[in-house]
Amino acid sequence: MLLLNKFPAWLSAFALLLLTQEPVSTSEVTACGVAVDPPANIEITDPGFLGYLSIHWTQPAGLQNLTLCRVRYQLRYYDTYEERWRSVRTVKLTYAAQFDLEKPVRVRILTVLKCACTNGTEVQGEEKEWVYTPEPTGVAGSRIRDFHCVYYGKEYMECTWESGPIQPPNSQHYLYYWHREMDETKECPEYIILSEDRRGCRFPRESLLEFSKFNLCVNGSSSAGSLKMAYFSIEVQNHVKPAVVSSVHVSEIDGELKLDWSPPSGQVPEHCLEYEVESSTTMENGKEKQEKMALQNLEDTSYGVQREVESQKACFRIRSNVNRYCADGGFWSDWSQTKCTEDKETQYIPKWTYLSLVGLLVIGIAGVIILCLSLWSLKKLCIKKTNKKDALYTLYKEKVNATMPTILSPIFK
Ligand SMILES: *[C@@H]1O[C@H](CO)[C@@H](O)[C@H](O)[C@H]1NC(C)=O
Ligand SMILES: *[C@@H]1O[C@H](CO)[C@@H](O)[C@H](O)[C@H]1NC(C)=O
Ligand SMILES: *[C@@H]1O[C@H](CO)[C@@H](O)[C@H](O)[C@H]1NC(C)=O
Repeated sequence: MLLLNKFPAWLSAFALLLLTQEPVSTSEVTACGVAVDPPANIEITDPGFLGYLSIHWTQPAGLQNLTLCRVRYQLRYYDTYEERWRSVRTVKLTYAAQFDLEKPVRVRILTVLKCACTNGTEVQGEEKEWVYTPEPTGVAGSRIRDFHCVYYGKEYMECTWESGPIQPPNSQHYLYYWHREMDETKECPEYIILSEDRRGCRFPRESLLEFSKFNLCVNGSSSAGSLKMAYFSIEVQNHVKPAVVSSVHVSEIDGELKLDWSPPSGQVPEHCLEYEVESSTTMENGKEKQEKMALQNLEDTSYGVQREVESQKACFRIRSNVNRYCADGGFWSDWSQTKCTEDKETQYIPKWTYLSLVGLLVIGIAGVIILCLSLWSLKKLCIKKTNKKDALYTLYKEKVNATMPTILSPIFK
């Protein structure tokens, strides 16, 4: 019986899960004259962290008086997320692991003995399996569907869902989450509401923890009773979707096409990105050719390719993802804007421009010459006029000098 769901987290801490024991093997192993029994008093407790359970046991009584021995325990548990058994060996009497509380919790444990009296070889005792099967609770068919989380540009994460096939009247969903730096579960910081229903949760970056289990649970209430619990455990760094690649530029130099772009905005480090370039080339015969190229060269935000001889026009778009050095998974970003080379027809434009440039130059030079010529004739005309003016002035001055007293004469110089 799982007590957790009926009490607040602080009360339910260390709720004990009642286990059923399934015999795995019956042959009793002995070493140094004692039976190598499996550990005793196995307990699984639920501290209320949405599936992160603690397993405890005690040393088998028969081994207590053995000296010069190393006693270890081999614990195997079924990882319901990866659908395989995981195995650990420990000298401790406790171990914590992540389980899916919607499925049976299976734990197998045995004692490993290595003593002077075993000549230094390892003796494995018999293995026992313990199973805890959660009690089904909640309205049948009310479990949410299509749950998935996307961590947009490592800036915020959105987890969304669809309501179950059966949605009792007045259904209300709740999301709770937990990671190892939290003392207890917390409710969703910001629900995403779609047509008045809670359909998702938005987590700011600060509420997330990377490279650690991030546990989620969506439950609910309704007038027909509580809705079926849905549990999830993810690692947020594997759910990143980078933003769109921006500022894509295509240039062509001597038949080589070169693409440049800026890394997407957001918090994904540049060395964690990989890119994919999609090109579609229109050939002279009108046919179109599409290609996708994965760019292995990390951190490089440019790409060069030789222009095909018959290509009329080439268009490119780029998207990015988190590379395998930084995460085990992720989502491709949306495609960038498509950027194309100029059409071949328009390639003749440079020639045309060249010709017109020469024409403009000729017109320009001719204009300058005409301007110079007209300036020159204008100047000639002006000089003639001033000559006349000068002659008049000299005549006038002579006259004044003759009539004026010498004191005033400096004014008329
Ligand atoms: C271990 O030793 C103690 C004292 O020497 C004794 O009382 C006890 O019965 C022994 N236990 C076993 C399992 O032999
Ligand atoms: C340890 O070695 C001795 C002698 O080599 C042998 O008689 C004994 O059976 C061995 N014990 C184990 C547990 O292998
Ligand atoms: C949903 O789960 C949380 C966390 O386990 C719990 O605190 C809460 O009471 C549950 N709510 C409902 C309606 O079952």
